Amino acid sequence: MTPYKRCLLGLSMAGALQLASCTSQPTSDGETMTSEQTATEKLPADVHSYAQPAEAVTKHLDLDIDVNFDQKTISGTASYLIDNLTGTDKIVFDSRNLQIENAYLGDNIEETTFELGETNQFMGQSLTVKIKPDTKKVTIKYKTSPDAAALQWLSPQQTAGKKHPFLFTQSQAILARTWIPIQDSPGIRFTYNAKVKVPKELLAVMSAENPVQKNSTGVYTFEMKQPIPSYLMALSVGDLVFEKVGPQTGIYAEPATIKAAAYEFAEMDKMLVAAEKIYGKYRWDRYDLLVLPPSFPFGGMENPRLTFVTPTVLAKDRSLTSLIAHELAHSWSGNLVTNATWDDFWLNEGFTVYFERRIMEELYGKEYADMLNVLGYQDLKHTIADKGADNADTHLKLDLEGRDPDEGLTDIAYEKGNFFLQNIEKAVGRARFDQFVNDYFNTFAFQSTSTDKFLDFLRSELIKGDEELAEKINIEGWVYSPGLPEGFTAPASSRFAKVEEAYNAWKSGKPAAQLTTKDWSSHEWLHFIRMLPETMSLQQMADLDKAFNFTNSGNSEVLAAWFLHSIKNNYATADKALETFLTNVGRRKFLVPIYKALNATPEGKKKALAIYAKARPNYHAVSTVTLDELLK
Ligand code: BES
Ligand code: ZN
Repeated sequence: MTPYKRCLLGLSMAGALQLASCTSQPTSDGETMTSEQTATEKLPADVHSYAQPAEAVTKHLDLDIDVNFDQKTISGTASYLIDNLTGTDKIVFDSRNLQIENAYLGDNIEETTFELGETNQFMGQSLTVKIKPDTKKVTIKYKTSPDAAALQWLSPQQTAGKKHPFLFTQSQAILARTWIPIQDSPGIRFTYNAKVKVPKELLAVMSAENPVQKNSTGVYTFEMKQPIPSYLMALSVGDLVFEKVGPQTGIYAEPATIKAAAYEFAEMDKMLVAAEKIYGKYRWDRYDLLVLPPSFPFGGMENPRLTFVTPTVLAKDRSLTSLIAHELAHSWSGNLVTNATWDDFWLNEGFTVYFERRIMEELYGKEYADMLNVLGYQDLKHTIADKGADNADTHLKLDLEGRDPDEGLTDIAYEKGNFFLQNIEKAVGRARFDQFVNDYFNTFAFQSTSTDKFLDFLRSELIKGDEELAEKINIEGWVYSPGLPEGFTAPASSRFAKVEEAYNAWKSGKPAAQLTTKDWSSHEWLHFIRMLPETMSLQQMADLDKAFNFTNSGNSEVLAAWFLHSIKNNYATADKALETFLTNVGRRKFLVPIYKALNATPEGKKKALAIYAKARPNYHAVSTVTLDELLK
């Protein structure tokens, strides 16, 4: 038996004495540590938070807030139960663009002093509250700013129903501090309760146990019993209805969207069953989706119990649901076992992409998952080429000190992370790798972990001194080196081989309308479109469009890929659709390459600026931060 398994899990981390029952193991720096400590206490410092959790740390949050659509503010109190570990006289929170009104200690709310530190652009300010050695509870009265970066306030016009306003939060990576004063580090976990007051005609939902319908008071209460990191704090308010999918799953959406969503995501229960088969019981009780308006800046966000999802995956044919598999997979990789810092982001996303592909393979077969791997590999190659083969940002383990952690959000974490894990799977066989990952999730459940800790676990539980295996796994090459390791075999797809055949026929002159494209999924179409030559004649563009109707596709992935060609080739027929797309959709993954393509020529830049001027008010701050920079 290994040290990890002998250790009692779920202990309070407060004192080293309680750790006596854990067996020791040597660490890489020579110290002897218990595995409980390895799991939690010896985490690397988080350079993206002002909090000092080794001194005083939050354990539970009671949030009591009012959501005011007229002022575009959230105001109220965040009340924390804390552990004062060192008997310190201060606790430090993160805060950005918040108006801090007061701070109190204890149950009888004795006023205390607080201090806001210097402002940093993306880190915000430290909020230091004076406490006593025996302080158990700290309450902060605060109000958000109308331009809080985590919050998007939508007018009725920006919703599907056009009648009611809408609000949603996006806390990852370090935006929770723009709507709650909080110890905003993924290495710190807490449980929470919330009381949220909203306009009576709207429903509020959170990353917690949720109501399924509106009530007459407009006051909703929430409970999240499992400890979560701050970036998983989430709230949305709108004209929402709920529809059940399976016993444990369901969908929240605007009434105008709920039917389409229920059709699109009908398989979410099957996904949950498949996921549990691979990595064991789902630990969060319910798994629901919230379909947001199209300005949502991401494809999906894995808020616990309630994934937030873009409506751009409503393709009417269930072809883009790997995104749901991805967000569901985060319930293990990310939400249960969390990256301790944003330098370890690949632990969240690489594992999740790996798991997403496993779920899709379980549901739709290996040939299906292979297509996703090849598309992912194409993205990865682009990212590596873009960043440069020697760029340290192409290591799995990042160094984001002094930079916005958003800069780590690249295909390196996702796809290089995924291929690293696939490489280990190949080296030890699926059965053994599955057992290992199960052990990993169970050992670190409800804890945060770093790259080093994962690698320690990999060495002690899987490699176990087998040098030949260590060489195959090649930790150094994958984790601490740029690009892809030598000898890496690119993924292949038999379904894509057929697409390539059709493409080659077209290239040698066969008319588009005569190509064999029957039963192609949107992945095959995407592969086809991505393969098209950089430069095409207007005649070629028009022929393709006539045969396949790309410009009017209802599939957002197909559209976004096609627009890159229409822009490069000045195919004016697509201009109207392009403008409509850019003004409706706020998903950054689509916007960035399209605006970049426009930006590449003086004429295109003019077009981009004109569209952006109109569209910008529809975008979330996450997207405008990137696009302002791109189009400046
Ligand atoms: N957790 C991410 C989104 C994220 C990462 C937001 C970092 C902010 C900072 C989410 O799980 C995700 O990866 N979404 C992807 C979809 C996925 C299928 C690759 C997206 O939004 O495109
Ligand atoms: Zn993800």
